[in-house]
Amino acid sequence: MKQTKIGLIGFGVVGEGVYHVVSQTPSLLACIHKIAIKQSNKTRNAPAHLFTNNVEDLLEDESIDIIVELIDDADAAYVYVTKAIRNGKHVVSANKKMIANHLPELKKLQHEYNVSFLYEASVAGSIPIIRNLEEYYDNDFLKAFTGIVNGSTNFILTQMNENKLSYTDAVTLAQKEGFAESNPALDVEGIDACNKLCILLQHTFGLNTNPNNLLHAGITHLQPSDAAFANKKNFTIKLLARATCAANNDIHAFVLPHFVPNSHALSHVRNEYNGVLLSSTLSDQQFMVGKGAGRYPTSSAVLSDISSLRYQYKYEYRKSKSNTTYHLENNFTIKLYVNYTHCENPISSHAFSQVYEKLESVNRQYIIGDISIQHLKELDWLSNPNISIIAFYDEFK
Ligand SMILES: NC(=O)c1ccc[n+]([C@@H]2O[C@H](COP(=O)([O-])OP(=O)(O)OC[C@H]3O[C@@H](n4cnc5c(N)ncnc54)[C@H](OP(=O)(O)O)[C@@H]3O)[C@@H](O)[C@H]2O)c1
Repeated sequence: MKQTKIGLIGFGVVGEGVYHVVSQTPSLLACIHKIAIKQSNKTRNAPAHLFTNNVEDLLEDESIDIIVELIDDADAAYVYVTKAIRNGKHVVSANKKMIANHLPELKKLQHEYNVSFLYEASVAGSIPIIRNLEEYYDNDFLKAFTGIVNGSTNFILTQMNENKLSYTDAVTLAQKEGFAESNPALDVEGIDACNKLCILLQHTFGLNTNPNNLLHAGITHLQPSDAAFANKKNFTIKLLARATCAANNDIHAFVLPHFVPNSHALSHVRNEYNGVLLSSTLSDQQFMVGKGAGRYPTSSAVLSDISSLRYQYKYEYRKSKSNTTYHLENNFTIKLYVNYTHCENPISSHAFSQVYEKLESVNRQYIIGDISIQHLKELDWLSNPNISIIAFYDEFK
């Protein structure tokens, strides 16, 4: 049987992992034929003759069947991936930023050139969530999902909560372990989770949207008093990406830090692990847990995509072909905790449709109430480093 030739772009945390995994999996009947990198002066843990700093050497090589794109530059990745597809090559990518920002056109392009574009590693690392949404949940109507989809922030939050690391030390450790993006702002500001939410919305509901349309906040503004509040009330703070199908096929979706009850399975997803909780009409709730970041967990998802190309696997995007059309709707309410202890101006209760609790002592000020996501988007709280906001987790609201 013919060996599949792979052109690998990127030889960092994931790229090097994929190189070793492919080399050590003879049953894959595939080999890494060439590797494109950026800097030619680095020492590499692979034979020198494989490397080039000219990506065209891969894209124009007619003997290469599959391009595996694993670089940390979303703009360059978009150029390489689209060119590879136009040159008739199948593409495997883990680049959630690039995918979330270009998914509708990438869907169209792969169809036009009759090639596969697979990206299991772009969401929740080693958890096979995209393939499951595409295949297993093909006909079972999905009502909602909640995901811890960013391994780096989950690692940071766990280290701060359990090992009492400072925020800075926890970020440094996440980078050292290879869990963080080369630009950690993507992780800690919730942008990466938002990109993944965007991809999940496509495969869960067939909803085409852009990350800019989705409300998101990360963990950078969280304060020690928030952790103390969580401990006192038996909550764990988790960064969650959530989506629910409400009446009229309205989709409610957002990324925010949440207070999750310690009794809930999501609160037990620790360190770089990810967890995705799905709610569907027939199977009810299912919870998938697995490593969401790191060299080999991410390589396992890439390996699975490469392997599926042996039987010409393609995403069918069946949800977007169904008769139901879903709409993103931001006019819905969540229960929110807003800590403004270090803020110059107090927060007015008028922003909330209902207030449950308000504390205004000398040392601490917070308010808990219901607020609409639309209204929250219009306020400047999310960009104010002196305000931390945390939603309360409730089952599929
Ligand atoms: N790390 C994870 O746990 C994880 C998990 C899921 C998904 N991902 C995704 O996987 C991708 C790779 O992440 P990573 O952590 O492996 O990144 P990384 O360790 O920073 O490595 C990036 C690699 O890309 C190469 N590169 C950058 N720009 C390039 C360009 N224009 N042309 C050719 N090569 C270029 C770099 O070359 P040099 O070596 O020459 O600098 C480097 O080898 C990203 O999209 C990331 O979001 C990562």
